[in-house]
Amino acid sequence: MRKPIIAANWKMNLTIEDALSMVDELAPLLADNAKVDIVICPNSLALPALKQKLQTSNIKIGAQNVHFEPSGAFTGETSIPMLQAIDCDWVIAGHSERRAVFGESDDLINRKVLALLAAGMGTMFCIGETLEQRNDNETLKVVQNQIKTGLKDVNAGDLDNLVIAYEPVWAIGTGQTATPEQAQEAHRSIRQELSNLFGKAHADELRIQYGGSVKKENIGDLMLQPDIDGALVGGASLEAKSFAAICNY
Ligand code: PGA
Repeated sequence: MRKPIIAANWKMNLTIEDALSMVDELAPLLADNAKVDIVICPNSLALPALKQKLQTSNIKIGAQNVHFEPSGAFTGETSIPMLQAIDCDWVIAGHSERRAVFGESDDLINRKVLALLAAGMGTMFCIGETLEQRNDNETLKVVQNQIKTGLKDVNAGDLDNLVIAYEPVWAIGTGQTATPEQAQEAHRSIRQELSNLFGKAHADELRIQYGGSVKKENIGDLMLQPDIDGALVGGASLEAKSFAAICNY
């Protein structure tokens, strides 16, 4: 049985103060939810304050990005040891906005994934096709390739900390969710690729989140699909009641 994992990706929104008051409203709404692993990924400035506030709660925190080197001349970047020093639980690697806006390649993302897993950090590794690729019937090929390159040299023994987030680019922030059937088709093919790489037993244990315009109205149907094990939620996670309703689907 794969325990569902639902994560909020707040992107570049909410000051520290806003983040803290959001969590004040959110934590009581989620306190009784023991069935889902819940993660909040705020702006990195808010990570320490949120971690402190959520110390005794069932909500974990995650960073939205990281550099693969432990330290050095990398202006503007944050390292894994820095995140570990504040007990950050998770990191998102390879979000499509990092790929498209900041030019992150599959190889770069692979280095991040390897560094994160070697450090024993929870890793949400994002993949997904663009609208053009979907229209060209390349979806399954694209996501299989992203899996193959993004997870190159990963040891099967490190998979416990890995979660895959399938996020079709055309569904992110557009209000246009993949249908449960479209999402399931991609998730099934991702699990097949994971099975080719790591063996069926590992593939059956790996959790695959869906992301892209998830909201309280569609989470139930998505979670009914056999290969969908959670969600990565952007816009709908910026309102406490809405994110709570998603986690308590
Ligand atoms: P969205 O974003 O829920 O606003 O579509 C999802 C994501 O980018 O992770």
